[in-house]
Amino acid sequence: MASVTPQVIHTVAEWRAFRAAHRAAGRTVGFVPTMGALHEGHASLFRAARRENDVVFATVFVNPTQFDEQQDFDKYPRTLDADVALMAGAGVDVVLAPSVAEMYPNGTDYTVQEATFSRELCGAHRPGHFTGMLTVVMKLLQIADADRAYFGEKDYQQLQLIRGMVQAFFLPTQIVPCPIVREADGLAMSSRNARLSPAERSLAPLFNQVLRNARTPEVARAELEAAGFAVDYVEDRGDRRFGAVRLGATRLIDNVAR
Ligand code: PAF
Repeated sequence: MASVTPQVIHTVAEWRAFRAAHRAAGRTVGFVPTMGALHEGHASLFRAARRENDVVFATVFVNPTQFDEQQDFDKYPRTLDADVALMAGAGVDVVLAPSVAEMYPNGTDYTVQEATFSRELCGAHRPGHFTGMLTVVMKLLQIADADRAYFGEKDYQQLQLIRGMVQAFFLPTQIVPCPIVREADGLAMSSRNARLSPAERSLAPLFNQVLRNARTPEVARAELEAAGFAVDYVEDRGDRRFGAVRLGATRLIDNVAR
């Protein structure tokens, strides 16, 4: 794929002008929302969007309302130049990197809340996280006005909640799930992996191995704790096993088919 640097814009109005021109020309739009600090997992979403649409639109916005810990928000890597370089190689045409004021013109007066599943699994450990996430994704889907939007299965609960929101509010964008991209040793790719110390990084792949191999969630928890992980939860739901652990200050999530 030829590498073309995407156009970087900062306002919703600029994207709306592009979007109107694409609609008039009958071009389809694929949308990939991100918080930046991009890696191969994001690149796989861009490539999927590139294959299935005429235009690929992405956003880079570190959404303050989905961080339950201020310190986590402050420490979240902001790497726009490197992100744009990765997008160039993965076929993104336009990237919107808006300010907080641009995205939250009414502050947090208007939010999207889900009442049940958002309180389970990660939601039980990160109060307010999914309300912040759903609120910003609702805004981003409205802004993008895309034919398709791409989300990774690593954040499986997020994906399910977004699908539910799209159904509940009759949003016209098709939600496209994309498989988890893993390091060679099985660790699910995440922007947070860069924060692991060398010792934590060498322990981290055990998380996925235990999720896959332990007979029950209780056994998985015991094995992970014995190895030095702090376990938020391991739970089996339907045909998947979900887990969240902490290594030092870094929180990792993963899920596997059972
Ligand atoms: O998965 C993420 O990176 C974020 O939760 C998202 C969907 C971009 C919303 O901020």
